[in-house]
This record gives sequence, C-alpha cells and structure tokens, in this order.
Amino acid sequence: MRVLVLNGPNLDRLGTREPDVYGRTTYADLVQMCVAEGKELNFEVEVRQTAHEGEMVAWLHEAADAAIPVVLNGAAWTHYSIAVRDACSQLTAPLVEVHISNIHQREEFRHHSVISAIASGVIVGLGVEGYLLALRWLALKR
Ligand code: DQA
Repeated sequence: MRVLVLNGPNLDRLGTREPDVYGRTTYADLVQMCVAEGKELNFEVEVRQTAHEGEMVAWLHEAADAAIPVVLNGAAWTHYSIAVRDACSQLTAPLVEVHISNIHQREEFRHHSVISAIASGVIVGLGVEGYLLALRWLALKR
C-alpha cells in the first residue's frame, strides 16, 4: 500500500534551518527515516517536498484520485492556504497533519491551521518522530 508524505516550503532546509526549533535531522535523513519506517509497516512510502503551491495541490489530487493516505506537513501553507485545504478536502483516505515544532507554543500566527479541521488527526511538537508516529497510526487503521 502506498503512502504519500508531503512537505511544504522550507522543509528541504531541515538540519540547517533554525535547528533550535526544528532539530538537526536533515531532510535527507527524514526521507530515509520515513521510507525505513514504511518498510517495517509494509507501506510503500514516497516522501516529497515542494515550495510550489500548485505542485502540492497536484500531489494532493493524485492522492485523492488513487485513495492514497497522506501525511502532510504543509509548513507555512498550513496557516493560510485555502487552496491546499480545498485539495485536502478531496482526500478519501486518512490524512495526518504533522508539525515538527509545537505550533501552539510559537507566534500567534502559527496557532491556527486551516488543515486541522479536515484532517483525521494532528501531531505537533514531537519533532521529526511525529512523521513516524503518523505512519504507525496509518498502519493501525489500514
Ligand atoms: C512547521 C510549522 C510552521 O509554522 C512553519 O511554517 C514550518 C514548519 C513545523 O513542522 O513545525 O515551515 O510546519
């Protein structure tokens, strides 16, 4: 079974980007961790990252058309992109929203997510391990 792990802008900078907030795990490490966890769980995990909103929307359409579960870290789009939210609304398989940092402990503008209300569930503030927990939950629900 396929799972898409989709990442929004600046997440390709993990490891060097504000390490106090996001940790020192690189994006390449994150990809490797998710693929390895997927193998354990018998998932074919594909990890993608983009800074282009249209590309993210197209990936979500792909997941909607093939009923593929999604783990989404929408990064900054989380807080304002109605286009990403509308694409998420079309998903039929589970959607897990993940944030590496605890967005509720940070600036006010990060407290609201336009995605959360339509996600199956949300994992925030547990670091990159949040992605692995999301994959495990998807395996439990399979
Ligand atoms: C983030 C939190 C967002 O507020 C921020 O814009 C990101 C990363 C996180 O994983 O903690 O880019 O989604």
